[in-house]
Amino acid sequence: MAASFQTNLILILLALVLSSSATTAQELDETESLSLGPEKLTRFRLYLHEIFDGSNATVVYAAHGNATNLVFGTVSVLNDIIALGPEADSKVVGRAQALLAIASQTESALTMIMNFVFTDGKFNGSVLTLAGRNNLNLKVREVPIVGGTGAFQFARGYVRTSTVFISQINKTAVAEYNVSVLHY
Ligand SMILES: *[C@@H]1O[C@H](CO)[C@@H](O)[C@H](O)[C@H]1NC(C)=O
Ligand SMILES: *[C@@H]1O[C@H](CO)[C@@H](O)[C@H](O)[C@H]1NC(C)=O
Ligand SMILES: *[C@@H]1O[C@H](CO)[C@@H](O)[C@H](O)[C@H]1NC(C)=O
Ligand SMILES: *[C@@H]1O[C@H](CO)[C@@H](O)[C@H](O)[C@H]1NC(C)=O
Ligand SMILES: *[C@@H]1O[C@H](CO)[C@@H](O)[C@H](O)[C@H]1NC(C)=O
Repeated sequence: MAASFQTNLILILLALVLSSSATTAQELDETESLSLGPEKLTRFRLYLHEIFDGSNATVVYAAHGNATNLVFGTVSVLNDIIALGPEADSKVVGRAQALLAIASQTESALTMIMNFVFTDGKFNGSVLTLAGRNNLNLKVREVPIVGGTGAFQFARGYVRTSTVFISQINKTAVAEYNVSVLHY
């Protein structure tokens, strides 16, 4: 019984593959097969400048979990400045736009999707996309780079990030991001 079910399943899957390849051959009249050349590894350092309170805040709480005493379930949206240095007057090259969720019940760990949107400098017009876990309990956190656009088409890599300072006086925080990215 199980064996014949398996045989049937294989036949159905085979039929699906054969029929879809037949359809593909009819519909795609133009195909390309290009060699992209060697990938290069680019490394650079950026600083995210955040205002976490007040009317010009660059991070806002968007939603929270139903359990009032827990940070678990908290969702925030972020639009930090990306600058070349940690100082307040450093050259601005873009924005870091992100969706952040506290997705651990035991640690301050974020599950995040973050886009580095470059509006100046060498990568003006390009976007680098990060997605993964950011465990805020660690001094240095590693987050994967999963793709991008413009200069970062086909990108993959990782960032290593740490907090430079958090000031409760002027409600600003700065984080350092060391980017290592493979792209063409
Ligand atoms: C917000 O930014 C504006 C424009 O830069 C500035 O005039 C204002 O003082 C800032 N508000 C706060 C609370 O920092
Ligand atoms: C949220 O919590 C309240 C009080 O504990 C409960 O009555 C309600 O059903 C909960 N709502 C959801 C969507 O879990
Ligand atoms: C960045 O790119 C945009 C769009 O191409 C362009 O309008 C702008 O002038 C560029 N900025 C700099 C500083 O090169
Ligand atoms: C980033 O790189 C610099 C220079 O190599 C290093 O001093 C710094 O500790 C690195 N930061 C992180 C968060 O890895
Ligand atoms: C806020 O305070 C920190 C720590 O004192 C300082 O390094 C930073 O330059 C200040 N930022 C602004 C925008 O004043």
